[in-house]
Amino acid sequence: MFSLTSLPVGFHEDPYPAYTALREETPVCPQPDGSVILSRYEDLDLVYRDTARFISDKKAVFGPKFGVDSPLYEHHTNSLVFNDPPLHTRVRKVMVGAMNPRALAQMEPGLITLVDSLLDQIQAKSTVELIEDFAGAIPIEIIGNLLGIPRSERGPLRDWSLAILGALEPELTPEQEEWGNRAVSEFKAFLRHIIDDRRSNPGNPETDVLTRLIQDDSDGGLTEVELYQNCIFILNAGHETTTNLIGNALELLDRHCDKRTELLSSPNLISTAVDEFLRLESPNQFGNRLTTEDVTFHGFTISAGTDIHLCIGAANRDPRQFDRPDDMLLDRRPNKHHAFAGGPHTCVGLTLARMEGKIAVSRFLDRFPDYQITDGAKRGGRIRFRGFARLPAQV
Ligand code: HEM
Repeated sequence: MFSLTSLPVGFHEDPYPAYTALREETPVCPQPDGSVILSRYEDLDLVYRDTARFISDKKAVFGPKFGVDSPLYEHHTNSLVFNDPPLHTRVRKVMVGAMNPRALAQMEPGLITLVDSLLDQIQAKSTVELIEDFAGAIPIEIIGNLLGIPRSERGPLRDWSLAILGALEPELTPEQEEWGNRAVSEFKAFLRHIIDDRRSNPGNPETDVLTRLIQDDSDGGLTEVELYQNCIFILNAGHETTTNLIGNALELLDRHCDKRTELLSSPNLISTAVDEFLRLESPNQFGNRLTTEDVTFHGFTISAGTDIHLCIGAANRDPRQFDRPDDMLLDRRPNKHHAFAGGPHTCVGLTLARMEGKIAVSRFLDRFPDYQITDGAKRGGRIRFRGFARLPAQV
C-alpha cells in the first residue's frame, strides 16, 4: 500500500502511476503513523468545504513534529493557512483586500518589465538554468514588492522559504529541521527593521500588505508573533509555488512539442493553458486537514482527531471529474482543478499566480520558441511541492 514515508522507486520523476493506484484502489489510504490519505476529487472537494468536520489547525500535529518551543512550531501554527477562525478570517481579510483587482492591475506593467529584463539576460547567454535565471527570479520580486522588502535585501528569501516549507515534508532529517528552525529565526530578525520602519513610515494601505497587517485593528489587531509569522507566510506562499508553476509549464511544453506549437500558433490559449499546467503538474501536491469527528468515506471510518493528507496531484487527474485526465488539453473548459485547494482556504494569491504564469510563459515562448531542456534537470525531491531544483536549457 502507498506510504508517504516509503515511496515507490521513481516516485519523484513520475508520481502519477502511484497516484492512480491510490485513487482507484485505496481511496482512503491509512498511513503507518495513523494519518490517512484521500485522493478522489469529490472527497477533496467535500473536505475543503466542510470546515466544521475538517479543520486546518495543526497544533496537535506540529507539537510532536517540531516541539512546541521551536521557531518552526511558532511559525506554522500562527500562519493563516494552518488556522481556523477567528485568526484565519481576520488575516485572510487583510490579505485578500491587498490583492484587489486594482492593485493587481498596477503590478502588471512591472511584472512585464521584470520578465523582459530576465529574458534579455537569458538571450545574452544561450545556455540557461530556467529555475534560477527565470522561474525562481519572478515570484521573489513580486512578493518582495507586495511587502515592500528593499530589492537589495531579497537575496536570502528563497533559501529561507525552501527551508521553512521543506519542514512540512512528511519525514524530516535532523539537518532539515535545524535548517528550518534557523530560517524562521533569521527571517524574523530580518523583518524587524522592515516592520519597525513601516510602522513609522506607513505605505499605501490599498496595496501594501505589510501596512495593512500593521494597521489592522479588528479584534484588537494582530499580536507581534502573528504579524511576523504571517509576513513570513505570505512571502513563502507565493514563492516556491509560483516558481514551480512556471518551471513545470516550461518542462511540459518541452516534453509535448505539439502543444508548444499549438500555443505558439494560438497565443490566446494562454489562460486556459496555465490552468491546465496547474492541473497536470500541481505545484502543491498535498494539503492537510484534521477531523473533528468520526467521518466515513467509501465505507471506511476515519476517527476524530486524524490527520488527513489531501492528494491534490491525484484528485486533479481523477477521471470522474476530468475527461482524458492525463492529456494536456490547452483549451480545457471547465477545469475546476484543486491546485489552489478550495473552500474558505482557497489560495489568496491565485489571480496573481495566474497572471505571473501567463506573462512568464507566453513571453518566454515568444522570445525562445525553440528552447530545449538539456541534460541535468533535477526535480525538487519533495512530496508536498512539485517542481524542479534545476532545469538547464538551451535557448
Ligand atoms: C501557482 C502558485 C500557487 C499555488 C499552486 C498555490 C496553492 C495554494 C494552496 C493549495 C493553498 C491552500 C492550502 C490549504 O489550505 O490546504 C494556498 C493557500 C494560500 N496561498 Fe497560495 N498558491 C500559489 C501562489 C500564491 C501566491 C502568489 C500567493 C500570494 C501572494 C499565495 C498566497 C496564499 C495564501 C495567503 C494562502 C492561505 C489561504 C488561507 O488559508 O485562507 N499563493 N495556496
